[in-house]
Amino acid sequence: AEVVEHFLYIKNLTVNHLCNDQIVTSANESVPGPTISVHEGDTLVVHVLNQSPYNISIHWHGIFQLLSGWADGPEYVTQCPIRPGHNYTYKFNVTRQEGTLWWHAHTSWLRATVHGALIICPRSNPLKPHPYPFPTPYKEVPIILGEWWNANVVDVENEALASGGVPNNSNAFTINGKVGDFYPCSKHDIYRLKVVPGKTYLLRIINAALNNQLFFKIANHKLTVVAVDASYTKPYDTDVVVIAPGQTTDVLFTANQPVGSYYVAAQPYISAVGVPFDDTTTRGIIVYHGSTSSTPVKAVLPAFNDTPTAHKFFTNLTGLVGGPHWVPVPLRVDKHMFITVGLNLDFCKSGNATCPGPFGQRFSASMSNQSFVFPHTLSMLQAFHFGVNGIYTTDFPAAPPVFDYTNTSLSFNQLLLFATKGTKVTKLKYNQVVQIVLQNTALIGIENHPIHLHGFNFHVLAQGFGNYNSNRDAEKFNLVNPQIRNTIAVPAGGWAVIRFQANNPGIWLMHCHLDVHLPWGLATAFEIENGPTKSSTLPPPPVDLPKC
Ligand code: C2O
Repeated sequence: AEVVEHFLYIKNLTVNHLCNDQIVTSANESVPGPTISVHEGDTLVVHVLNQSPYNISIHWHGIFQLLSGWADGPEYVTQCPIRPGHNYTYKFNVTRQEGTLWWHAHTSWLRATVHGALIICPRSNPLKPHPYPFPTPYKEVPIILGEWWNANVVDVENEALASGGVPNNSNAFTINGKVGDFYPCSKHDIYRLKVVPGKTYLLRIINAALNNQLFFKIANHKLTVVAVDASYTKPYDTDVVVIAPGQTTDVLFTANQPVGSYYVAAQPYISAVGVPFDDTTTRGIIVYHGSTSSTPVKAVLPAFNDTPTAHKFFTNLTGLVGGPHWVPVPLRVDKHMFITVGLNLDFCKSGNATCPGPFGQRFSASMSNQSFVFPHTLSMLQAFHFGVNGIYTTDFPAAPPVFDYTNTSLSFNQLLLFATKGTKVTKLKYNQVVQIVLQNTALIGIENHPIHLHGFNFHVLAQGFGNYNSNRDAEKFNLVNPQIRNTIAVPAGGWAVIRFQANNPGIWLMHCHLDVHLPWGLATAFEIENGPTKSSTLPPPPVDLPKC
């Protein structure tokens, strides 16, 4: 095991896309930022130097942060943000996991341009020179799907929050920072991957888009999914991948088609009512060595609302039982929770109905009708560690009021429409096993919400449509080989059931990974108390932890 050290300089960068110069916040003057690679067992030390005009913090999405919660990164949850001109060093061990994760800013909308791949290679082991539970690929390639605005994203977010309406759609999607030739004025702004005929490649696909699930495809090539969210899956063959913001998907593909060039393409999957559909497509090109063709074969993606294809993909994946880092499903459940996820309303500032949200009000969002408010005087983890009262409360409800969650004609129900605001968490004992039913609501339109839990992987026991019914649906639980994830796309008008063990003390955020929903309050957190020994107790914070 080694110590791997990196420096991230957060600073302004001018980027040109779609014939427009835009100043963005970047890490090391590149978008995406640098790929960080470690081996399982290494210690990662990243010095973040904020030379930008904005507050920043960096989250290591999917990292367990065992006893290192101070390095998790969400602002006001585990740390105060790093102010302009200040620095913070993130230091943590990377253990018990391997595969594709990513890092991103966890302040306002800055993750649009401040993000990069975080690759955990298998622990080097001379006794096991063949590191993967699948044939060793000829080459590994991170594929980061992103979203681009011809505008300052912080302004886009703030305008939406101030008005109470939805933010402007992005202008393009990107593959490894390139928009592709399907947009106006972008002919040469395209990602190219050269391949050798007959060779097999591992694509480490990351959805870093802010607000859209994406279909992803390579023309004429079969994809074999071998991992999701840095957890190995049973190999699964498909011609299209769907990936929600926050998720990663590792696929193998073999360059076994006639020598030529082939488009790769990504475009939103949005099963939503009342949300403006962004139908733009980003493309890249896979070029076979020796190809002379100048017109790549087209990749035809599913329709934007093709829920059967998305659902089939998401539900057909299973975990690789007995593979590296496989964890069996805990069979004892200590705590059952039922959490609704969805949009709500907030009263228009003036009290009059003049805002651009539904019914002339403002958009809001909640978990179990509790709209999460981030503290701003101290981080929640500091409050936990030092026993400071008044930063958050531990009265998040184990279940919300019962109603017909997925009925789309209920929006007259004023009581449910307007969520309660607060910083409410659920207190868990060390090592408790928690099962959560995540139930989508349809009060304000129906939409798929990718729910991300910080600090843990969870087993995905089942997912389906309509209202969750414990008598009927508990029978569908996969307790044998479920997929293991850190981000679950809860189907529009449906539900998902997850289970995890609270084996890491601290404060852990759980939230919708659509960045438009986070400031609206679609979040909550868990407070996991310290265990009985030193090795189950959160150590004191690093001395350079930023001050509020
Ligand atoms: Cu990838 Cu809290 O986020």
